Formats: sequence, structure tokens, C-alpha cells
Amino acid sequence: MAQKIIVQGTTGKSTVYIGEPIERLSDHIPEENIIIITDDNVDKLYRKTFPKGHVIAIGTGESIKNLETVQNIYEALVAHEADRTSFIVGIGGGIVCDIAGFVASTYLRGVRFGFVSTTLLSQVDASVGGKNGVNFQGYKNVVGVFNQPEFVLCDLNLLKTLPRREMLCGFSEVVKHAAIGDADLFKYLEDNHEKAVTGDLSVIHRMVYDSAVIKSAVVNRDEREKGERRKLNFGHTIGHAVEKTTGMPHGQAVSLGMVVATEVSTRKNLLQKSEADRIKTLLKNLGLPTRFDIDRKRLLHAMRKDKKRELNRIHFVLLDAIGSAVVEEIELEEIETIMAEAGQEKR
Ligand SMILES: NC(=O)c1ccc[n+]([C@@H]2O[C@H](COP(=O)([O-])OP(=O)(O)OC[C@H]3O[C@@H](n4cnc5c(N)ncnc54)[C@H](O)[C@@H]3O)[C@@H](O)[C@H]2O)c1
Repeated sequence: MAQKIIVQGTTGKSTVYIGEPIERLSDHIPEENIIIITDDNVDKLYRKTFPKGHVIAIGTGESIKNLETVQNIYEALVAHEADRTSFIVGIGGGIVCDIAGFVASTYLRGVRFGFVSTTLLSQVDASVGGKNGVNFQGYKNVVGVFNQPEFVLCDLNLLKTLPRREMLCGFSEVVKHAAIGDADLFKYLEDNHEKAVTGDLSVIHRMVYDSAVIKSAVVNRDEREKGERRKLNFGHTIGHAVEKTTGMPHGQAVSLGMVVATEVSTRKNLLQKSEADRIKTLLKNLGLPTRFDIDRKRLLHAMRKDKKRELNRIHFVLLDAIGSAVVEEIELEEIETIMAEAGQEKR
């Protein structure tokens, strides 16, 4: 039996099913007028498990997450005479879900939609919470909507075909959730990192379930990111800048972002050094990077250009303990100074 978690958004209720096989998708959708949006890899691997419907496959990679792809999908929908009775299902990772949710929210001013989440990152993070959108002019996710999918199916068996690199991206977001909101999950990850790395599905199940519980609770209190939801950006302000300046995969960049945010937390006397060390060790044990040598000036420049900037001060997520985050407005220069000091001490 799948476990269920409810996200109660202003646009409607979303049910996240953990452990629901893709073969049961037809129990969650109408019998007719199904449009499936997927990417080329997932299409090749799993088309035989899709229910009856019109399939639109959209290539792969962050570079396709843009308005041009959205327009191509609108054209396919018009050509297929999709109407208000159509139901859109995004079957794929975060990229497919972000795009499919945006298309479904805007085509004909909105049609019904749901997701089958096929990557660890989308199961633990991207498909939960109702943020849908695309990148624009090099800025991540700046065009989009808040709108809850009717359902999110997380079939853990789909992760067996996921490349290791993509599993790592998911681990990074699980550590984020544990670090900001669940000390028990953090301890569990410390005790079970070896099994996680080998893809043990009972450990992965706990990672997905607990992450969905943490994220949905935050979203239920602050769907539109006016306050508490910002905590979910732990490691991401720096992470996005690292991603942009180095082209490093998202999860690895976020791992480095969490290391810096942890360092800032200890230097501001919020977090004990021993707790910061635990975070670094866990990231390392999960196969994520914790050391980097990136030009600070370039990084700060990229952060200044990040969409979350507010002049020279940004909302920055810090930890005051493992399992407890605080959001502070902080000067970019302060982050730069701390990074410089930390770099000096390590020489
Ligand atoms: N909406 C949100 O709240 C939110 C939160 C976090 C991240 N995101 C977004 O999510 C995106 C990243 O998502 P992602 O990491 O899932 O990337 P992705 O969708 O690109 O998937 C990663 C790769 O795995 C392949 N793949 C997918 N499922 C597979 C499977 N079961 N077996 C084998 N291969 C499979 C894909 O084809 C792709 O090549 C980013 O664009 C990010 O901005 C959104």
C-alpha cells in the first residue's frame, strides 16, 4: 500500500503517493483525453508502462527548460485538439514536472494535471509543493506559477534505472531537508549512508517519505514563499551561483552551497563546529563534494545576479542546529569575507 501525504494549497489539494507503481497511474486519471508529457529518456525506458494517451516527448536537459519548449507543447496540444476536458500527466524528473505543470496551468487558463516523478530529486523535492515554471534569459525558474498537481506518484522502482550522478542530486536535497527540519532523519542518514549509496530501496523509501513530509509541512504553512518556505533554499543561493559559474550538476553545487552556508552559520556563532563537521561528513559519505576552489569574485557576481537578490542584501538560510534553520538578511560582502577567511585557514 502506498503511503499518502497531503499538500493543501490555495489552488487545491495535492496527494503525494509514496510507493505507488506507475502501472496504477490509470486509477488516478480519467479514462479519456490524457496527454502525457515526458522526456526522451523516460519515454524510451518506460513508454510500455504508460496508460492510453497522446504522448509528447521533449528532449532532455536544463537547456530545454524554456519558453520555446512550452510553445512547442502548446502547438502539439492545439494540433491534438486538447480541450478543457484534457488531463495532463508529466512523467519524468524535475524538468518534465516543472514544464508540464506550467503548461497545464496556462493552456486554456488551466487544465487538470498530475505527475509521475521518476528521479530521486523530483520525488524528494521538485514535484512536491506546486512550483511550476521555466528558465528565462539564463535566470532559473523566473517564469512560472504556483499551482498544485492533483497527485504525485513516487514509484521507487523507477529509480533502479537512474544514473548514479542523478541519485547524488537527490541525496543532496534529502540532506537539505534533514538539516533544516529533521534531526532524526539526519541521524538515520548518518547510520545508513552506505545502504543509501548502494540504492537500498528501504533506505530510499524513508528518504523520499520523510522529505515529502518535511517539504509538504513547510508548503502547507507558507505556499507562496513569503517566509518559512525560504528555508528550503538552504545551500541554494550559493549552489545556483556555483552551478552557473562552473556548470556543475545541481545536487553537487547545492552540496557545496550547504558547506558554505554551514560555515557562515558557525562563524556567526549560530551553529556548533561539531554539528557543522557532521554535515560535511554526511555529504562526503554520500559521495557529494565538500571542497571547492572557485573564484570568489565570480561566485559573488553570480549571486548578485540571482533572482533572489535584494540589492546587496539577500535572504540567506543558516542553521542554528541540525534540524533547525533560520533565515537572515545578510550582506553579500559578509559571505565573501567568511569564505575568504575559511579559505585562508585551510591553506
Ligand atoms: N519545482 C520545484 O520546486 C523544484 C525543486 C527542485 C528542483 N527543481 C528543478 O528540477 C530540475 C532538475 O530535476 P531532475 O534532477 O529530476 O533532472 P531531470 O528532469 O533532467 O532528470 C535527470 C536525468 O535523468 C533522466 N531520467 C529521469 N528519470 C529516469 C529514470 N527513472 N531512469 C533513468 N533516467 C531517468 C532524465 O531523462 C534526465 O536525463 C531543475 O530544473 C530544477 O530547477 C524544481
